[in-house]
Amino acid sequence: MSETMKDSKDPPLIEIENATVWRGTTRVFHEFSLTIGQHERVAILGPNGAGKTTLLKLIYRELYPVAGEDSRVRILGRERWDVWELREHIGMLSPDLQSGFSPNATVLEVIVSGFFSSIGVHYQLREHIQPSQLEKTREVMETLGLDALADRAFDTLSTGQQRRCLLGRALVHDPDTLIFDEPTSGLDLAAGFDYLDRVRDLARRGKSLVIVTHHLGEIPPEIERVIILKSGTVHADGEKSSVLTAEALSEVYGVSLRVTEIEGHFLVYPADQT
Ligand SMILES: Nc1ncnc2c1ncn2[C@@H]1O[C@H](COP(=O)(O)OP(=O)(O)O)[C@@H](O)[C@H]1O
Ligand SMILES: [Mg+2]
Repeated sequence: MSETMKDSKDPPLIEIENATVWRGTTRVFHEFSLTIGQHERVAILGPNGAGKTTLLKLIYRELYPVAGEDSRVRILGRERWDVWELREHIGMLSPDLQSGFSPNATVLEVIVSGFFSSIGVHYQLREHIQPSQLEKTREVMETLGLDALADRAFDTLSTGQQRRCLLGRALVHDPDTLIFDEPTSGLDLAAGFDYLDRVRDLARRGKSLVIVTHHLGEIPPEIERVIILKSGTVHADGEKSSVLTAEALSEVYGVSLRVTEIEGHFLVYPADQT
């Protein structure tokens, strides 16, 4: 069977049909539909409050739509999932996670906790860690340049190192798909680009990516499709260079912008106001 045939037979990563999603008293999506294939590499842009994080949480099953006759959300072809099983297929990286660990959790503990879907590894859990899990954890730490930090307290690391640990935590299952919510927020330029290098490496290794970002320059060249959300609707969706235009971005953000592409990277800057 050819690769293409195999790809086309795989169910989409997510199929959302007519979904209505509330967060507290805010209706974020109303009769919202969107499909993302299993082998796509997608960036999601849009102003604050557009629904980007909510969309990721739908994919990751942290949020559910309102039940309705003609409404459904299928992930990898299924409407029902044991979330722990789903975590083996999809890893989610969000800076929110960074503050959730106990102060004395070590780097190794944070990464190995990916196997237990718990935040931190409680003392009692240590005896349940299998040698194969420890081996995989060490392999991931080595790939991410974290091996020398294995016994350091997570709290004492730089933000960039912490972010890499969380990537490691998501990678222990070797999921096919990784979902990033503003991956470089709070990182300095060097740490941000170092992190993006690792994300690009995952793309080159065949992982599917869904990346929410505010920074066009941080959309890896490997991303093929861009979706712009605005007020809970899909404002633009298509091939990267056809979506990332000055017209589309100026309209979405309500300011005059220009866009330039340099070696597969996109730059956005203010249009001359004179
Ligand atoms: N926990 C919450 N309770 C109430 N409203 C929320 C909550 N989380 C998000 N919202 C609202 O839902 C909308 C979409 O939020 P979100 O998906 O986080 O947007 P984005 O990630 O695009 O900035 C926003 O109007 C936001 O204020
Ligand atoms: Mg968000």
